[in-house]
Amino acid sequence: MNVDELRQRLTFYRDLGVKDLYKMNPKPAAEPQPEVILPSIAPAGDTLARILEDIGDCRRCRLCEQRGKIVFGSGNEQSRLVFVGEGPGADEDAQGFPFVGRAGQLLTQMIENTASKEGIPIRRPDVYICNVVKCRPPENRTPLPDEMEICGEFLFRQLMAIRPKAICALGSTAAKALLATKDGVTRLRGHWHKWRDIPVIVTYHPSYLLRPYNQNAKREAWEDLKKVLHFVYD
Ligand code: URA
Repeated sequence: MNVDELRQRLTFYRDLGVKDLYKMNPKPAAEPQPEVILPSIAPAGDTLARILEDIGDCRRCRLCEQRGKIVFGSGNEQSRLVFVGEGPGADEDAQGFPFVGRAGQLLTQMIENTASKEGIPIRRPDVYICNVVKCRPPENRTPLPDEMEICGEFLFRQLMAIRPKAICALGSTAAKALLATKDGVTRLRGHWHKWRDIPVIVTYHPSYLLRPYNQNAKREAWEDLKKVLHFVYD
């Protein structure tokens, strides 16, 4: 509306006997809202079978493009102890089970030898093992943040469904996913953390321990494992 049109309009209102006009303030801009981090959507009475069904033939991130099999998890579904790794490697991608390659063999040895030495009557099938991402990252690269976030929803549901007494995070990717930290394993290992209300121990990833010059890390990983096994099974 130009000035002449406005004048005409006001004259018209005056002729009608309207004496007061009020200018409406424009609506205030929406206040910036604090970021809301929603909990993962875990239906009441969630089960591992239901989570697996929800994963389906997952296409939620780019990792689906080159994967062979989805690697969901394996072991005792009522286990009091859950190990969380990073993501499937070539052997796991081919077979559909976590930690079945060289790193997996070392993990099995670590669990079974430590338990046996410490007089704890458990074998690998007595614990539950899964990964942060369920599909193999190309060339075994570290999962990207969006991949971890999308697949993390399923990891969190697995942990909520099992509700173990403790979790052992294997390596920095698992630690990052569970503890939302940027700290590395060296800093995080050796003491307890929490995922929600569940105690978490962080230790070195078995692939790291396979490198020949990491003898010190090996000794520390055994200490971490002893600690978590005694906490859970004593
Ligand atoms: N490394 C992982 O983090 N997970 C596996 O399942 C195998 C190797």
